[in-house]
Amino acid sequence: MTELLEAYRCFADEHPGIPERWLLDQSIGLASLYDVVAGLIAQRSSGPVLDLGTGYGPIAIRLAAMGLGVVGVDRDERVLHGAKDIASRSLGPSARAQFVTADATRLPIPARSGFRLATASLLLEHVADPAEVVSEAFRVLGPGGIAAFFDVDDGLGAEHPQTPALLRLGEALSTWQSGYGGDRRVGRKIPGLLAGAGFDDVEVYVLPQARFSVTSPGSEERRLTAEHLGRAREGIVGTGLLSEERFDGLVAEYLHAPARQVCHIEGRVLAFGRRTRIPASSP
Ligand SMILES: C[S@@+](CC[C@H](N)C(=O)[O-])C[C@H]1O[C@@H](n2cnc3c(N)ncnc32)[C@H](O)[C@@H]1O
Repeated sequence: MTELLEAYRCFADEHPGIPERWLLDQSIGLASLYDVVAGLIAQRSSGPVLDLGTGYGPIAIRLAAMGLGVVGVDRDERVLHGAKDIASRSLGPSARAQFVTADATRLPIPARSGFRLATASLLLEHVADPAEVVSEAFRVLGPGGIAAFFDVDDGLGAEHPQTPALLRLGEALSTWQSGYGGDRRVGRKIPGLLAGAGFDDVEVYVLPQARFSVTSPGSEERRLTAEHLGRAREGIVGTGLLSEERFDGLVAEYLHAPARQVCHIEGRVLAFGRRTRIPASSP
C-alpha cells in the first residue's frame, strides 16, 4: 500500500489529461489541510460516514484510513473512478470506502439510515441551494448523528502584494459563480444552515492557511490558477462580465507579470452540528 499523498501523485502522473484535473491538483495541494479537517471530524464520530460531493475522495479516503466505514457520493461518475483507484492504492483491497453516483440534493437513501456522520468538503460553494444539501444530511442521519461541513469564504483571505489582473479575474469568477447559484462566501453561512435544517450543538472553526512564495512567469502555481480560471472563461464571457479579449488579456497579464514574493492567506470554515431531535412530522 502507498502513502495517501503518494497515491494521489502517482494517479495524477499516470492520468495527465484526466477530466477535472484541477480538482485532483487541489486534492494534492490541500493535503495538509485535509489531514487537519479529517482529524477533527474523526474525533467526533466513528461513522459510518456519508461524504457528499466527495470528488477524488480527500476526506472520504482519510476517514477510511482511520478505520471508519465510508460511502462517498458525487454526481460526477468520472471523479469517482479516480477516487476508487486512489482508495485502493492507498488502503488496499480491504478498503472500507465505497463510491456511488448520486445527487447530494436528492439522495437515494432512506431517512434516518445507518449513517452516523455526514460530511461535505468544498461542495456547498458550488450548489444553487446549499440548504437542500444540509437538509438531506439531516434527513439521512439518525438521532445523535453528526454533520460536518467544510467550505470556502473569500472574505477571510488576503494577498500581499496584490496582482491587479488576478484581483479582477477573481471578482469576475466570484460574480459568475453567484450568478449560477454558487457562493464563494458560503463559509460564514454554514452555522445558520445547520441550525435552519434542525441541527443542534453547532460548533464553528476557521482553519487558516498561509504561504509565502515566489510566483514567477511560467510557474506551476500560475499555470494551475490560469487553468482554474480558464474553466470559467465561457461562463464569464457568456454572461458579459468580461469580453473575450479582456479575459484573455488579464490571464496573459497575470501569467507574465514579473516574478515576486507574495504572501497568501486563506481562511476556510469547518462547522459541526448534531441531530438530536426527531421532528414529529418526519416519516
Ligand atoms: C470542489 S469539488 C470538492 C470535492 C471534494 N469534496 C474535495 O474536497 O476535494 C465539488 C464536488 O462536488 C460535486 N457536486 C457538485 N454538486 C453536486 C451535487 N448536487 N451532488 C453531488 N455532487 C455534487 C462535484 O462533482 C465535485 O466533485
